Amino acid sequence: MQHTITLNTGAKMPLVGFGTYLINDPETCERSVLQALEAGYRLIDTAQFYGNEAAVGQAIKKSGIPREQLFITTKLWHTDTGDAKTRPAFEASLQRLGLDYVDLYLIHHPFGDVYGAWRVMEKLYHEGLAKAIGLSNFYADRLQDLILHFDVLPAVDQLEAHIYHQRQDARALMAEHNIALMSWGPFSQGKTDLLENAILKGIAAQHGKTPAQAALRFLVQQNIVVIPKSTHEARIKENIDIFDFTLTDDQMAALTALDTKKSAGLPHDDPANVKRIVGFVNPLA
Ligand SMILES: NC(=O)c1ccc[n+]([C@@H]2O[C@H](COP(=O)([O-])OP(=O)(O)OC[C@H]3O[C@@H](n4cnc5c(N)ncnc54)[C@H](OP(=O)(O)O)[C@@H]3O)[C@@H](O)[C@H]2O)c1
Repeated sequence: MQHTITLNTGAKMPLVGFGTYLINDPETCERSVLQALEAGYRLIDTAQFYGNEAAVGQAIKKSGIPREQLFITTKLWHTDTGDAKTRPAFEASLQRLGLDYVDLYLIHHPFGDVYGAWRVMEKLYHEGLAKAIGLSNFYADRLQDLILHFDVLPAVDQLEAHIYHQRQDARALMAEHNIALMSWGPFSQGKTDLLENAILKGIAAQHGKTPAQAALRFLVQQNIVVIPKSTHEARIKENIDIFDFTLTDDQMAALTALDTKKSAGLPHDDPANVKRIVGFVNPLA
């Protein structure tokens, strides 16, 4: 059985999905996504920027799983924001994926002409080509601005979110509008000692689970969607096997207390990082 949340569009979204960032090699990507689908994942997260939409599409096709049972997310890169560029970029993503619609289309970063992009995305949503539209890396101020200027509310904001960076500030605004938080980097991308944290390890051991499973459970128990990435089958299975235990209130409180409120990656409100990210080379450009 899929564990889901209901978006502000009324659509259901799985609470656990499979992340594909940095799975660049097409063969590895196709194999990993297929293994994820076989393990029970139905949400796959990709992006124009990852350069792996075609491999994700191949895996979807090979799996033979009916399209309506899947929830496919992709993202618009900043070089293709704006009234003229967003629709062709979306259509190219659809083509690479081999799909006629996506379940969720996100603006990858709050950079470039995001207003023009959102105007186009509202149309894609009304036309049923993107069943839901949303944002990624929009912090509370940028999210609030977009909400004030458009008719269609974002369904999702995908943000770096994990035990060390719990995003309470953005979550208050998101809760007000029933915008779902989709966590990227639920293990802090391996950039911190999170999975070695003694408190997390102790709590996981009490349930006979791994620290990775407890870290994911902490998020999904708060209705935060997680999309862990792995290219190892055992971990792919481990990361979705998180629905047979419940963290107690005391355990949730102990993990909540570990919030450092700091990004382990590149905070998007730092001008130097904006410059860095805008300089990333899109493999499909
Ligand atoms: N919107 C954005 O800007 C943005 C940014 C980053 C990521 N994302 C999305 O979010 C997804 C998840 O984030 P992420 O991939 O950056 O980081 P992550 O899921 O936090 O961490 C991935 C790392 O954890 C390892 N790992 C996976 N399962 C594990 C387990 N059970 N135990 C120990 N280690 C484990 C993986 O190694 P192995 O592969 O070797 O197993 C990999 O090195 C991405 O794949 C992508 O879809 C979005």
